Amino acid sequence: MRKTGQIGELDQRYLWHPFTQQRDWEAEEPLVIERAEGTDLIDSEGKRYIDGVSSLWCNVHGHRNELIDEAIRDQLGRVAHSTMLGLTHEPGARLAERLVEITPPGLERVFYSDSGSTATEIAIKMAFQYWQQRGGSDAKRTSFVTLTDAYHGDTLGAVSVGGIELFHSAYSPLLFEAHSVEPGDGDALEAILDLHRGEIAAVIVEPLVQGAAGIRVQPPGFLRRVRELCDRHDVLLVCDEVATGFGRTGTMFACEQERVSPDFLCLGKGLTGGYMPLAATLTTQRVFEGFLGAHEEYRTFFHGHTFTGNPLACAAAIASLEAFERDDVLLRLQPKIRVLGELLADVARMDEVAEVRGRGFMVGIDLGAHDPALRLGHRVTMEARTRGAIIRPLGDAVVLMPPLAISQAELRRLVEITSEAIRAAYALAYESAPRDLRPAVAGEEPAPTARAA
Ligand SMILES: Cc1ncc(COP(=O)(O)O)c(C=O)c1O
Repeated sequence: MRKTGQIGELDQRYLWHPFTQQRDWEAEEPLVIERAEGTDLIDSEGKRYIDGVSSLWCNVHGHRNELIDEAIRDQLGRVAHSTMLGLTHEPGARLAERLVEITPPGLERVFYSDSGSTATEIAIKMAFQYWQQRGGSDAKRTSFVTLTDAYHGDTLGAVSVGGIELFHSAYSPLLFEAHSVEPGDGDALEAILDLHRGEIAAVIVEPLVQGAAGIRVQPPGFLRRVRELCDRHDVLLVCDEVATGFGRTGTMFACEQERVSPDFLCLGKGLTGGYMPLAATLTTQRVFEGFLGAHEEYRTFFHGHTFTGNPLACAAAIASLEAFERDDVLLRLQPKIRVLGELLADVARMDEVAEVRGRGFMVGIDLGAHDPALRLGHRVTMEARTRGAIIRPLGDAVVLMPPLAISQAELRRLVEITSEAIRAAYALAYESAPRDLRPAVAGEEPAPTARAA
């Protein structure tokens, strides 16, 4: 039996995939990725695909980057893992120094974890505990404000400040309540902060772009206004840059574009160049000092994970930051962002496309409202795959998030493949669809829609 078939069988027999309806999954032959080179993924039959979503929004410099590979090998020759509970190590300490240097001013302490969800969970718990330990009327600051359609991860605290119906509503009895405002609506935020004066611990936002919401872009000036309102109400600001961090929106961090320093900055995904599970929650000296005290006062932050600050992952992250400098990644990204913008202007004119949204290298191509049973986004993914690109939809929005290192030629090919895939998927979906599922023509009521991962 071919190896591909064997792996596929093992997968379908034993695995359960994230964000996946397994019945659909088992009806298709799994694509087995065996290796990678630069910005290409290579399957077990040797076929190449452009990694059009950076292996879930995290790859920065391409795969098998020699600096990062070498740093991991070098660290492997010393120690793969030792705990941060009661011990420390060089890559962890050096990376913390680098992160404080490159992040917005005022962030001075680094708390490691291992995923974007844990990075936001930690910010939420720290913000809550900070006010509890201040005591007095500050202990009444127990609630959070979040944005409509927010996504901060899949653990229960992160889900509590999330706002994506399809992903989050099933768990509502398990969650704490959070106030929510429309992204861009500074007046609504001000009204909530006024109405609940002295009750809000923190506001949590994905700065500039909300990825999982379907690449929803905030109006310019909104983030700055959020910061000003938080300052005026003495409320902590959490910026979740798990998706936007490390160059995605064109600057190292999205916050920089509005000259905002948050009280907490959550990092993950691109932190290691997209190599390893590492996350970090950075905070200010003010918050850090709120946790200091005599041992028996128990102002300790009682939180940590087995693989917190894993040395291999920290070594990869240091090497990734070196690659940013050595390869002038952010400088070389700017012309690519312009090219991508030009290519997308053509995509936006396609009949099948309702809207193209994005910032920098975060793009959502919205196909409009379609019946979820048509699985249009998924069909686009499959069509793109046969043409040599891996992309992934968010409902009926097609997401493009290539590695920052992609060449202009590959970027053109990625957009070309995506356009062809959209046309082909659309034609196929509606060829076989019953009449009542076809897209509404002008003047008719649009078909009801729901988001589906
Ligand atoms: C803004 C944001 N926060 C948090 C997360 C969760 O990260 P992870 O999947 O590493 O837990 C994501 C993941 O997509 C994200 O986009």
